[in-house]
Amino acid sequence: MKKHIYPGFFSLTIGILAFYGCQQPSEKKMASGKAGLEKTVFGRLPDGRNADLYTLRNEKGMEVKITNYGGTIVSCTAPDRNGTYADVVLGCDSLAGYLRGTPYFGALVGRYGNRIAKGKFTLDGVTYSLATNNIGNHLHGGITGFDKVLWTASAVENSGANPALKLTYLSKDGEEGYPGNLPVEVVYTLQSDNALKIEYTATTDKKTVVNLTNHAYFNLADAGKSDILGHELLLKAGRFLPVDSTLIPTGELRPVAGTPFDFTRSFKIGARINDSTDTQIRYGLGYDHCWVFDSPGGSLTEPFATLYEPGSGRLLEVLTTEPAIQFYSGNFLDGTVTGKGGLLYRHRTGLCLETEHYPDSPNRPEFPSTVLNPGETYRTTTVYRFSVK
Ligand code: BGC
Repeated sequence: MKKHIYPGFFSLTIGILAFYGCQQPSEKKMASGKAGLEKTVFGRLPDGRNADLYTLRNEKGMEVKITNYGGTIVSCTAPDRNGTYADVVLGCDSLAGYLRGTPYFGALVGRYGNRIAKGKFTLDGVTYSLATNNIGNHLHGGITGFDKVLWTASAVENSGANPALKLTYLSKDGEEGYPGNLPVEVVYTLQSDNALKIEYTATTDKKTVVNLTNHAYFNLADAGKSDILGHELLLKAGRFLPVDSTLIPTGELRPVAGTPFDFTRSFKIGARINDSTDTQIRYGLGYDHCWVFDSPGGSLTEPFATLYEPGSGRLLEVLTTEPAIQFYSGNFLDGTVTGKGGLLYRHRTGLCLETEHYPDSPNRPEFPSTVLNPGETYRTTTVYRFSVK
C-alpha cells in the first residue's frame, strides 16, 4: 500500500507519528499546519497481516486516527473553549487491545448495526439464520462483524484541506448468515471545519439487509476518565422505540413527552438516567434505545443530535441522512476493558450516538426498509462536527 505524505506535512516525521500511534496523547495544544494523511503500522494480526494506523490532520490541528482493523476510530481530538485539542473517544493504545476484545470501541458496525430478533429474518420466503450473540438475538453483524475484519485502505487523492481515507471490504455471500456478496465502501473525511464525515456505500448481488454505523464512544470532557452524566444532550426526536427486556423494539413508536426519553430540549444525561420507575430505563439499564428523528432522511444541513460538555465547552453536532439514532449511555462499561494509557473504562464513561435505521427492521415491515436489492446502491452519510460553546 502506498504511503501518502501531503506537501508541507514533512515536519512531522514518521517517527513522531509512530510514537503517537502507540501512545495516545494526553492533552496537548496542536500547532496548526497543513492538512494531510499519514500511515504507520499499527500491529500484526494472528494471520500475519499487518493492520495500519492512518492519521488524518486538518489545518486547525484536529487529528483523527483510524485503523483499517474494523475501520476503527482509535482517537479523535477536538478543541475546548481555550483552543486546547484533546482526545474525545474511548479506545486502545495498540492493535492487541482491540484483538483482546472491546465493546465495539470506535468500530464500523455491520452488516446490520444493532439487533435482529432471534437472529432470524425472511426475504422472499427464505428464512435466514444469523448468529445469536446477544441474549438470544443477533447484535452488530454477528460474531465476526465488520468491526473485526481487516479493511483495504487507501488515501483519497487530491483531498486537499479535507484529508480522506477510503476503506473497502467485500462481505461474502453467506458471511455471518447474510445473503449476497456485499462490497462495502466507507470514506472518512476530516473536514477543515473540524467535522468528521463518514460516507457509507454498498451494493449486493442478492436481496439482503444492510444497516451500517459507527460505534464511537464519546466523552467530550476527558476521553473516559470521568463519566458522561454531566454531558447535555439534545435530540430532535419526538418519539423513540420502546424495547422488550432483550432490547428488541416492541413495534411501538412512543412519544417522548413526559418521559426520561425527552431530549427535545437539552437535558443532562444523568438527570433521569436512574429513574427506576420507568420500565424502559430499567430494561436499558439506562439509555440504550433508538430515537426516531422528526424529519428523517436527507438533511445534512442541520444537526439532529447535539452533545455539549459544559466543563470544556466542547460541542458535538451530529448530522445524518439516517432516520434514527441509537443513544447508548455506556451502561455495560464496567471497568474490565483496559483502554488508552491503561485506563479502565468504568460505568458510563463513554456514550454512543449511532446513526442508523431502526433495530430489527427486517422483521418489522412497518419500519423503514433496510432491504437492499441487486442494482440498488445503499448510501448514507453521517457527520460528527466539533466546535465550542
Ligand atoms: C447496544 C448496546 C450494546 C453496545 C455494545 C450498543 O449499540 O445498543 O446494547 O451493549 O452497543 O455492544
